Amino acid sequence: MASLFGKIFGGAQEAAGAEAKIEYTAETITDAVIAQMAATPDPRTRQVMEAAVRHLHSFAREVQLTPGEWLTAIDFLTRVGQMCSPARQEFILLSDTLGLSTLVNVMHDKTAMEEATHTSLLGPFFREDAPRFESGAQIARRDAAAEVVLYGRITNKAGNPIAGADVGVWQTGSDGLYDMQHEGHSMDCRGVFRTDADGRYLIRAVRPLGYGIPMDGPVGEMIRAQKRHGMRPAHVHFLVSAPGYRELVTALYLADDPHLADDVVFGAHGELVVSIKENQPGCPVPGAKSIAFDFQLSKESEADRRMGRVGADPSKIG
Ligand code: BEZ
Ligand code: FE
Repeated sequence: MASLFGKIFGGAQEAAGAEAKIEYTAETITDAVIAQMAATPDPRTRQVMEAAVRHLHSFAREVQLTPGEWLTAIDFLTRVGQMCSPARQEFILLSDTLGLSTLVNVMHDKTAMEEATHTSLLGPFFREDAPRFESGAQIARRDAAAEVVLYGRITNKAGNPIAGADVGVWQTGSDGLYDMQHEGHSMDCRGVFRTDADGRYLIRAVRPLGYGIPMDGPVGEMIRAQKRHGMRPAHVHFLVSAPGYRELVTALYLADDPHLADDVVFGAHGELVVSIKENQPGCPVPGAKSIAFDFQLSKESEADRRMGRVGADPSKIG
C-alpha cells in the first residue's frame, strides 16, 4: 500500500513547526472517509453514506479488489447508465436481478400497520399515465388472443369492501412483450380501473406469457456470464390505491409456469400464485376463462406517505 506524506498547516502545528505524517492504510482509509463526511447535516443521509462506505470498503478488502477489476466495475456501471432511457431502466433491472429490489420490498412490507396482501416488484415496465377504463373493459387493444377475465374485491384487513379504489394493471401481451418493447411504445395491455360500491373490480385481458428480461444490455451480459436463464414467470402487475390505505404494489403469477421457483428477479411469491379457470361460479362473465383474486390493503401510516415505492416509471427517473 503506497504511503502518502504531507504537511498539515494549521494554527498550532504551524506555530510549533510540526510535521505530520499522513498515511492511509487498508485499515485506516475507511475511518478517514467517514470522518470527512461527519458534518453531513441530514442525519439519515449521514447514516446511509457511512454504512455505504464501510460496506464498500469491506467488500473491496474481502475480495482483494484489483485495479483491473475496479475498472471493469466502473465500465459496467457506466454502460448500465448509458442504457437507460425514458423507456428502459437498466439500473432497476440490475437491482432486480441482484435481489436488491425484493430485499427493499420485504423490509418495507414489515413496516406496514397491518399485514395485507403480499407485495411484488413494480418492475421496469410501469407507466404512470396509463388510460382509465370502465369496469369490464378489455386492456389488450391489439392482441387477438383469447380473453381472460380478472376479477375480485379490494378490502381492508377486516374484509370490508373499499369502494372507489384505483386498480392499476399492466402485463405482457400474448407475445410475452410489454407495449414499451414494441416499436412506437404506444399504450397497450395496461389501464386503471375503479372498484364499485362493493369493492369489486372486473378487467378483461389476455393470458400473459412468461418472458426473458431485456438481455441486450450490460445486465443481460451479467446474467449470461452467470449462466442464469433470465426468465420471469408469467404474471399480471397490480398497483392498488385508495385514500387512507398503504399503496399495494403486487403481481399475480400463473401456477403452471415453469419458472415460478427460479424467477430471475425473485418477484414470485407463493401467496400470489393463481390459476386461470373455466366456468368459475363467481365469475361475472359467464363461461369466460378467469382469474379470481381478492386484495387486502393495510391502513396507511404517516410514514407511508413519505417512504415512496420500490420502482418508478422509467420516463420519470433522471
Ligand atoms: C417485470 O415484472 O416486468 C420485470 C421485473 C423486473 C425486471 C424485469 C421485468
Ligand atoms: Fe412484469
